[in-house]
Amino acid sequence: MAKKIGISDLVLRDAHQSLHATRMTTADMLPICDKLDKIGYTSLEGWGGATYDSCISFLNEDPWDRLRKLHAALPNTPIMMLLRGQNLLGYRHYADDVVDKFVETAAANGIGVFRIFDACNDPRNLQRAATAAKKTGKHVQMAISYAVTPYHTNEKYAELAKEYAKFGADSICIKDMSGLLRPYDAYELVKAIKSKVDIPVQIHTHATTGMSVATLVKAAEAGADVLDTVISSMSMTTSHSPTESIVEIFRGTEYDTGLDLPALVEIADYFKGVRAKYAKFESALKGVKPQILVSQVPGGMLSNLENQLKEQNAIDKMDDVLKEIPLVHKDVGYVPLVTPTSQIVGVQAVLNVLQGRYKIMTPEFQGLLTGKYGKLPADPNKDLVKIALEKSGMDKPITCRPADEIPMEWDKMVEEAKAAGGNGTDEDILTYAMFPKKAPKFFAERKNGPVNSDSFKVAASNGENKGGSYTVTVNGTSYNVTTGPSSDKMNVTVNGTSYDVAFSAAKAGGAAKTVVSGGATIKAPVAGNVLKLCVKDGDEVKEGQDILTVESMKMELPVKATASGKIKFAVAVGNQIAADQVIATIGGGAVVVEASADAPAAASGNGTVIEAPVAGTLLKNACQEGASVKKGDNIMFVESMKMELPVKATADGAIHYLVTPGTQITAGQAIAEIK
Ligand code: CO
Repeated sequence: MAKKIGISDLVLRDAHQSLHATRMTTADMLPICDKLDKIGYTSLEGWGGATYDSCISFLNEDPWDRLRKLHAALPNTPIMMLLRGQNLLGYRHYADDVVDKFVETAAANGIGVFRIFDACNDPRNLQRAATAAKKTGKHVQMAISYAVTPYHTNEKYAELAKEYAKFGADSICIKDMSGLLRPYDAYELVKAIKSKVDIPVQIHTHATTGMSVATLVKAAEAGADVLDTVISSMSMTTSHSPTESIVEIFRGTEYDTGLDLPALVEIADYFKGVRAKYAKFESALKGVKPQILVSQVPGGMLSNLENQLKEQNAIDKMDDVLKEIPLVHKDVGYVPLVTPTSQIVGVQAVLNVLQGRYKIMTPEFQGLLTGKYGKLPADPNKDLVKIALEKSGMDKPITCRPADEIPMEWDKMVEEAKAAGGNGTDEDILTYAMFPKKAPKFFAERKNGPVNSDSFKVAASNGENKGGSYTVTVNGTSYNVTTGPSSDKMNVTVNGTSYDVAFSAAKAGGAAKTVVSGGATIKAPVAGNVLKLCVKDGDEVKEGQDILTVESMKMELPVKATASGKIKFAVAVGNQIAADQVIATIGGGAVVVEASADAPAAASGNGTVIEAPVAGTLLKNACQEGASVKKGDNIMFVESMKMELPVKATADGAIHYLVTPGTQITAGQAIAEIK
């Protein structure tokens, strides 16, 4: 009997999340929905935690509005969402009443398939969300977070699948976040699961290691029912296997998907154009990342680690961190490395290498050890659990379902969302509940409407010399200027003469220099952002007391006093700080902060952005801030290549300068905006 393989395309969620930092506007999705809807996919993945976050943080879009629009544009294809169990789309466990409300509202707005997973693979963390989703009558898919560790075996995964089936799962997903699932292992794993459950099995495996196409084929041979793929122009590297290739591999076989290739190619063409707009967000990966196969560390986590170490000026420590991760991983019972556990384990490994093993233990890492996230697959390190309990002021680890400890909180959310500027709908209350820090700004700015993705193109070379052609006007004569891509200098040709111009890679906004006289100094243990001061300037503090917290690597880390006495802060809330920067003194020393370059102001995205035509120094402005200018007017003068070059307005309106005279600017940097 012919068995038809189903295809879920992830182009509206995981593809752009994996390839270009979750930037894709609804406006770039809707024009192709009609064609997507006619393909006959099992489902289209279109919603999840990162897309929701990106909507409110970067795109000024209401994620619920996106969902409703997609639903209306895809009447024949169920929209799948990725839901982190009791975490929903946030980074903590929510009370059951919020879980119920979220699932209900998502179903009412258009979700057709709930794919639910938990980083710990603790079934108790999925239970409530699964039950709520069942009630809506929508398809409930429960996902197994796949990890390769000495603990995990096919037998254990199959048992888990059986347990999920008991919850009423309509299907099981093997969720391989980082391309660790080898083809022949996939075959055995699917066989093992299929021997225990008789519901469909779907495979999610990223292409990052280059194995994904083979893995999908072997999984299909073992009986997998549905495969996750992405339309070719948005496929491979950190994304997924190309839909068209998978369709053709199976054509004419017992696994034939029956999908129409020419129709898929039209969709691929469309997304090719869309993807180009988001080039500045593209991950640097070319081909495959073999380091994942060596270290067994997920790809997303690897690039996070790279970024974090760069931020800490310690990229040379990468090998040490990669060696540290397996130890930390063992200490927390081989918890699968997926959001948020990959972040928690990764940051702890970085801190262990930079500061000494477990000298600083993040609150989140303590939470993992003390059972706040759920039951860990294997037993955690007992000595560390003891330390974590002590630090958290707990007598014993949590052994019940973690959410049982959380009192109902919907009513509280209703009040808080209102105070934060929400419009009173359940959707707004949920936005606040998921992202309480970001929601107020979004509520306030929502009326300005969605960001136009064309504006991303404008800033494409901001801070980086990507090379390109520019027109420079000198004394009324226009010259074509071509720069070659180079990280440290660019070559500019004016009037046939070639100039090498140093390209200022150093972005403004570096650490402030501090000069200290006397007293004990406290240095920042890590680079990051000052989040809050725990004491007031001038207070008496005791050694060991928390004096401020720093947001670093997406975590809030406390900094402790290293002496007792009167404290003087050298930084304020919101300041960017560098590792080892002096942030306070204790015992009298005055701190003078020397001038530091201001970070360049970002364009609001609502006006016409003027880009610097060349790298150089901004000499002077030609108008007053806010003055009205006409297209073609000189608005500023840049010193570049030993010449004073005017920069002209490209539109009519009021001028808003984004940089101040004296600032080093890079070619393509946004320097002014006309509204
Ligand atoms: Co994925």
